[in-house]
Amino acid sequence: MITISEVSMNFGPQVLFENVNVTFNQGERYGLTGPNGAGKSTFMKIISGDVEPMRGHVSRPKKIGILRQDHYQFEEVRILDVVLMGNPRLWEALQEREVYMQRLDDLSDEDGMRLGELEMVVAEEDGYMAEAEAEELLEGLGVPIPLHQEPLSALTGGDKVRVLLAQALFGHPEGLLLDEPTNSLDLASIRWLEGFLKDYTGALIIISHDRYFLNEIATKIADIDYETIILYPGNYDDMVEAKAGARGSLELANAAKQQRINQLQDFVHRFRAGSRASQVKSREKLLERERQAMANLKRSNIARPFIRFEQSRPSGKQVVELRGVSKAFEDVTICERFDFQLFRGDKVALVGPNGIGKTTLARMLIGELSPDEGERVEGYEVHLGYMAQDHGEQIEKSETTAHSWLWQWNTEVGEEEIRSLFGRLLFTKEQPFKKTKVLSGGETVRLLLARLMLLKPNFLVLDEPTNHLDLESIRSLIESVDQYEGTCVFITHDRQMVNQVANRILELSPTGIRELSPQQFAEGRFLEQHKSYQKKGW
Ligand SMILES: Nc1ncnc2c1ncn2[C@@H]1O[C@H](COP(=O)(O)OP(=O)(O)OP(=O)(O)O)[C@@H](O)[C@H]1O
Ligand SMILES: [Mg+2]
Repeated sequence: MITISEVSMNFGPQVLFENVNVTFNQGERYGLTGPNGAGKSTFMKIISGDVEPMRGHVSRPKKIGILRQDHYQFEEVRILDVVLMGNPRLWEALQEREVYMQRLDDLSDEDGMRLGELEMVVAEEDGYMAEAEAEELLEGLGVPIPLHQEPLSALTGGDKVRVLLAQALFGHPEGLLLDEPTNSLDLASIRWLEGFLKDYTGALIIISHDRYFLNEIATKIADIDYETIILYPGNYDDMVEAKAGARGSLELANAAKQQRINQLQDFVHRFRAGSRASQVKSREKLLERERQAMANLKRSNIARPFIRFEQSRPSGKQVVELRGVSKAFEDVTICERFDFQLFRGDKVALVGPNGIGKTTLARMLIGELSPDEGERVEGYEVHLGYMAQDHGEQIEKSETTAHSWLWQWNTEVGEEEIRSLFGRLLFTKEQPFKKTKVLSGGETVRLLLARLMLLKPNFLVLDEPTNHLDLESIRSLIESVDQYEGTCVFITHDRQMVNQVANRILELSPTGIRELSPQQFAEGRFLEQHKSYQKKGW
């Protein structure tokens, strides 16, 4: 059981939530929802103890497993070690012990004592079984033993999640916190994850913007909005319904208050100069009080960004051509003698299961990766705007503010234009001056989108752009790509985006790449592919 008592959190003037009281019980699966920047990840870090709340108290079980929102933070670490790091006390002891073991011959008495202490910790935490346990966990999640010695960067986005899950599950935690685990996962893997999580017996808390996933998995929803957290029984759709009702009555109350204020104001205006001075005075007091109450009413922070991509000038008719291109890594073939012509105005979706080579193909299209064989020919006047799947590649988490990060891409535009761009992407008031290291997942994506809006490219390449975005932002993004007059290649697992935007679809599968018409895709051949993939198992 995890109990949150009277917890409040703010960053300077930005209030996330106030006076929150919630209990998370064993055996229930909680979806933690709210728009981008609402404070979901922060709340999760408060639960895990990574972040201290401004006020209030958290009581938590001894072991809590956590899968953080950034799936790319352990890239250079050996996969087996990533799992062991799931038990920080053990991991630190093992690391320190290793240092002493390196110089066993010249240890001081003090060193010897310390080594003894470390041995104790390792024993207490079942350190001697740890590697075997981690291996078993990884194998159970479908990561085969030969991979365990590789760095995490050897795996694709979808498979990384399996390792990070193993890390969270290592040491049998009584509570499991997962921050957007389905980002980058294909449909088959999401189905697999749903099944897997349903067997977990502790208290499970999951952050996700994926409605279907939450409907499938959640037994309760904890929603962050109106500067508080409210617990709703049922799944995501149940919450939306209940909340719409609650918001309706809140708005009704607001309207009644406004009417009362108007009446009071009327009275005060009419009789101020007259003989009813004492009545006017008492009403003035009342008016002040009502106004205060009105100002204190919390507003919902659901908002929709305004995204629009423009091109400064169009490219030539043919944007890129791949001629007889082959590419393979050690054990996978991405394509063989593949021919493809991309024309101005095309909207091409790259679809297919995790690990099949979508990102590799996109990188060959933009010329960032060379094929083993064949050639790439770029058309006339092509200006590229690329958004990578790993956001850390483009926005380093640092002390740099979002404002100066964005400005570097086009120093010729004025402050006013930059500020209005920020405004459209929901960075209001002081928000553009946040450091890039504190930006939430969705805010980071909005900043990457702002860059593309500023660059005005005629060739957009987006690798899973809807990851991390809330529902309103996804809608706005899909519309903007749909209306874009340039050429766009995008990778996504979002069927809605493919259906609404793509005029051409490249489906990558173990038997090769083939082009589907939007109709073929809509008829569900894509799903079939996913099903057969799932059957093969992990
Ligand atoms: N250390 C910090 N200093 C200042 N502001 C911060 C800090 N950490 C987070 N924030 C801000 O607090 C807000 C909540 O951040 P958080 O990461 O919890 O949001 P989130 O609900 O997880 O959003 P998303 O859905 O985009 O991941 C954001 O506006 C973020 O910029
Ligand atoms: Mg987050």
